Amino acid sequence: MGYKAKFRVWRGESGEGRLEDFTVEVNEGEVVLDIIHRLQATQAPDLAVRWNCKAGKCGSCSMEINGKPRLGCMTRMSTFTEDETITVTPLRTFPVIKDLVCDVSFNYEKAREIPSFTPPADVKPGEYRMQQVDVQRSQEFRKCIECFLCQNVCHVIRDHEENKPAFAGPRFFIRIAELDMHPYDVRDRRPQAAQEEHGLGYCNITKCCTEVCPEHIKITDNAIIPMKERAVDRKYDPLVWLGSKIFKR
Ligand code: SF4
Ligand code: F3S
Ligand code: FES
Repeated sequence: MGYKAKFRVWRGESGEGRLEDFTVEVNEGEVVLDIIHRLQATQAPDLAVRWNCKAGKCGSCSMEINGKPRLGCMTRMSTFTEDETITVTPLRTFPVIKDLVCDVSFNYEKAREIPSFTPPADVKPGEYRMQQVDVQRSQEFRKCIECFLCQNVCHVIRDHEENKPAFAGPRFFIRIAELDMHPYDVRDRRPQAAQEEHGLGYCNITKCCTEVCPEHIKITDNAIIPMKERAVDRKYDPLVWLGSKIFKR
């Protein structure tokens, strides 16, 4: 059965804006993105929202729904009561371009700072042979849809703009972990570098990133914590330190 829902949606651009109230029809089985589209079709034709697949796979429709970072296309209206006011705002950590659309280029800049997959020079494409166990280890990280919800929720940059230059963020910690686990990647990706060059040291394991990941990637437990442990081992274990010096020569 359909009903009328109360929506409050952020409208504005160039740093200026306000929440605008709407009453809008909701039908059975709909998701928040459906309602945003209905607002565009009926009451706010210039309402800006980014979306693409409507299937939780492109990572475009990231927004904050009642203050929680979520995908609009995967948030069912049935998770709210009919008399609840649903507040939809853009991701807070990135600059707003217009309404619900943010400039997420911070993330692409961070992506460029991570050296790409570097196979051995003498192995040609098509000749890579990997054990299934090695494929499985990093498969979880390759599920990332780059929705940047984890980047948005992490307090290291959400509350501290000044940390942005030094902090790659959880999405890129899993990228580093994935490459580090790849048996054909020959680049030196010591966790110490992640700690010092990509800002892993700023992370204090609040796990907010893991909580919001729509792909249920265990960002903190399977990527961040193991890298932190190895970085610490290396720094404080004199044998590991000595070994690294000897083998580097
Ligand atoms: Fe989104 Fe999860 Fe990838 Fe972060 S790790 S960008 S939350 S899919
Ligand atoms: Fe941020 Fe995730 Fe660490 S939310 S503080 S990167 S555990
Ligand atoms: Fe693609 Fe929501 S529209 S993830």
